[in-house]
Amino acid sequence: MKIAVYGLGYVGSVTSACMSKLGHEVIGVDIQPLKVDLIRSGKSPIVEAGLGEMVAEGVKAGRLTATTDFLEAMRRSEISILCIGTPSAEDGSLSLDQVKKVCSSLGEALKESKGTHLFVPRSTMLPGSCEDVLMPELERASGRKPGDGWDIAYVPEFLREGTAVEDFFGAPMAVIGARTEESGAKLRKLFEATSNNVEVTDIRSAEMVKYVCNAWHALKVVFGNEVGNLCKAHAIDSHEIMRIFALDTRLNISAHYLKPGFAFGGSCLPKDVRAILRRAEDAQVRVPVLSAIIPSNDQQVANAIRAIEKTGKKKVGILGLSFKAETDDLRESPIIRVLESLVGKGYNLKVHDENVEISRVIGANRQFLEAEVPYLEAILKPTVEEVLEHAEVVVVANLAPAYRSVLDRLRPDQLLIDLVRILPRGAARPKGYIGLSW
Ligand SMILES: NC(=O)c1ccc[n+]([C@@H]2O[C@H](COP(=O)([O-])OP(=O)(O)OC[C@H]3O[C@@H](n4cnc5c(N)ncnc54)[C@H](O)[C@@H]3O)[C@@H](O)[C@H]2O)c1
Repeated sequence: MKIAVYGLGYVGSVTSACMSKLGHEVIGVDIQPLKVDLIRSGKSPIVEAGLGEMVAEGVKAGRLTATTDFLEAMRRSEISILCIGTPSAEDGSLSLDQVKKVCSSLGEALKESKGTHLFVPRSTMLPGSCEDVLMPELERASGRKPGDGWDIAYVPEFLREGTAVEDFFGAPMAVIGARTEESGAKLRKLFEATSNNVEVTDIRSAEMVKYVCNAWHALKVVFGNEVGNLCKAHAIDSHEIMRIFALDTRLNISAHYLKPGFAFGGSCLPKDVRAILRRAEDAQVRVPVLSAIIPSNDQQVANAIRAIEKTGKKKVGILGLSFKAETDDLRESPIIRVLESLVGKGYNLKVHDENVEISRVIGANRQFLEAEVPYLEAILKPTVEEVLEHAEVVVVANLAPAYRSVLDRLRPDQLLIDLVRILPRGAARPKGYIGLSW
């Protein structure tokens, strides 16, 4: 393909050289003549392992060149990859000034250009930046609407400085945010050579993925450091702890526990988080991230209560009482806190949980139920049907198989608040459906 790469900084230099290595015809563009001259003379504008050789090879083979002239770059390319800086503004917000300015110049150049053109920002940008800021700027400057000879798609960049070339060719994933199938397919073809895992999604999702990744990486760093500080206070080798920790690829280093849903609860997580926090306090070790766990969890309980209150309905049916399906354990179940709040505010409730019902009948959990949730006796119903018949708002609070079918059984006048995502991925939202965090 014929590719122009705008911005010859860390991301742009690597992208230019690596794309030329893949056999594409690449023209790099920057406002800094020095960077352009360096590329033209076969040298890398940045220090990065393996990049110098690749730039030299690309230039020698005639597949890589550079210019400061936007119009020339536009004429010689079908795809424009934008690798412009998106620094923090004074107030910490994201500044799109530079990338917007480039779009303005590109729009002007588009006026003069024939053929179709695909603009592909790779700069890190918050959701909405492409569609609400860059696309209108290109449209304004070119006088042409998207679809009229041009389109925009977003491909976040995940490379790390120092291992950028390696990261480029062996990316764990390439994420393509596309508006049209045609642009998605074109970019899939281009990025298939960089990763075995190409995901095509919408533009906003692609923009968001990048921030979720970086927030996660930052969270991992500070989590590891807090663990380290706690370990040190106990004369325990933190590196040995994290080595062992990482061996669990089912629960620790995995997608498990990362699906947005309801608050955690049960007999272990709340108790154990409290205990380690108390120990940190005693040891005078500051652990701001670990200390934020309980408030964050409480917030999700408050969010669920608020979602129910916002419906303005008073007849509520709750499906699922234990903190997860397949158990009758109600200790620190977060839905019990929702229940308590609603009972206190005079809501008319009916609830169902098969496992709690069985345990009540056989008496296993009776003592706990009578002591901790005495009001349950009056509102716990033996069948899902009874709860559905009663409810103006149905709240699904755990993933018991019997509750998944509720999606198909709603009356037209009923609302469904899904705390645990019974809605399958990609399925249409039924009328009246409210997801807690999706
Ligand atoms: N550096 C990284 O490791 C990395 C990794 C992933 C994503 N990103 C993101 O990629 C984007 C670029 O980052 P970077 O580190 O390469 O930035 P950088 O500052 O190194 O490079 C930006 C380049 O854009 C050029 N430029 C500015 N205005 C221009 C204009 N009007 N026309 C042409 N060129 C112009 C600058 O001269 C500079 O060479 C940022 O959004 C960043 O967040 C960076």
